Amino acid sequence: LTVGVLYGGQSAEHDVSLMSAANVMKAMDRARYRVVPIAIGRDGIWWLNADAGEGPVPQPGSGVSVALVPGGRGRLVAVDGAPAELLPTLDLLFPVLHGRFGEDGTVQGYAEMAGLPYAGCGILGSAAAMDKDVAKRLLREAGVPVARSVTLAAGEGVDADQLADRFGYPFFVKPARQGSSFGVSRVDGAQAVKPALTKAFEFDDKILVEEFLHGREIECAVLQHADGRLTISPPGEIVTAAHHDFYNYEAKYFDPDGAKVVIPAEVPEAVVEEAMALSARAFRALSCEGIARVDFFLLEDGRLFLNEVNTMPGCTNRSMYPLALAECGVSYSGWIDVAIAFGLK
Ligand code: DAL
Ligand code: MG
Repeated sequence: LTVGVLYGGQSAEHDVSLMSAANVMKAMDRARYRVVPIAIGRDGIWWLNADAGEGPVPQPGSGVSVALVPGGRGRLVAVDGAPAELLPTLDLLFPVLHGRFGEDGTVQGYAEMAGLPYAGCGILGSAAAMDKDVAKRLLREAGVPVARSVTLAAGEGVDADQLADRFGYPFFVKPARQGSSFGVSRVDGAQAVKPALTKAFEFDDKILVEEFLHGREIECAVLQHADGRLTISPPGEIVTAAHHDFYNYEAKYFDPDGAKVVIPAEVPEAVVEEAMALSARAFRALSCEGIARVDFFLLEDGRLFLNEVNTMPGCTNRSMYPLALAECGVSYSGWIDVAIAFGLK
């Protein structure tokens, strides 16, 4: 089976995707899969047969630039006219892409147009989960507790005092469609409101202002099998070091002491069960398929609030998704096999 692994891409999470893809490709069983790395540049161009250079994966900007043929069932064409016999035909696309143009339904739509099966969520689930505003509406409707928030569009007037009255300090400001905490700020006082809004609007033209939920961060991995059954991991916990004001980009990927992943989370059994049940409910409410990681805040009084659902969770060396699945007996190559089988069904 020839699997095209997509990584890099146009989102702010380009570098995170390179780290995730290195692990996913390393874990793919070469006896079962011919792995075709396709590196996507920040400009969106797809590169086949790229050079690795110093990087852990072949780097965009070298090799042959290619495109999927609409209706071609995995056939690739070289944009600059390389001979067709040099180009593999893909049986499945595995987008290891985070954020926009990867996790938001766009690349899924491209694969659909090409008639090419793919791993992970479909168009609707990807788009719904990526958009924190839409996701929260659907989750509320499904009875899944989420933080109070308001959604603001670019150009809409904002009264900072009203936000403070409504949410109290601190509160959070986030772009609606971003990952890895890009553009997210914790606002501790009036002077920080405007810079936080400006920063969030740099990443999206729709943002959320959200109440701060003071709690522990726990996350469940969800993996769907070809027969529709879900494997849901017991939650793991992210413990962010006190020198970060929240679990931000630096703490997530670059500060070795920034955060600790504790698996399984040391929480009461009732919390484990509720987190797993809410993960399943959220997965269905957002029309997710295949893969997702569901993130929660656990308040001191035991209440759980869903923070967000990620349809292509990080797979870096310090990421929760593969580790949480390993804890419930699904190996790294095992979850990739399940995700591919689901994509092919
Ligand atoms: N958006 C990052 C990759 C995550 O949720 O893991
Ligand atoms: Mg995320």
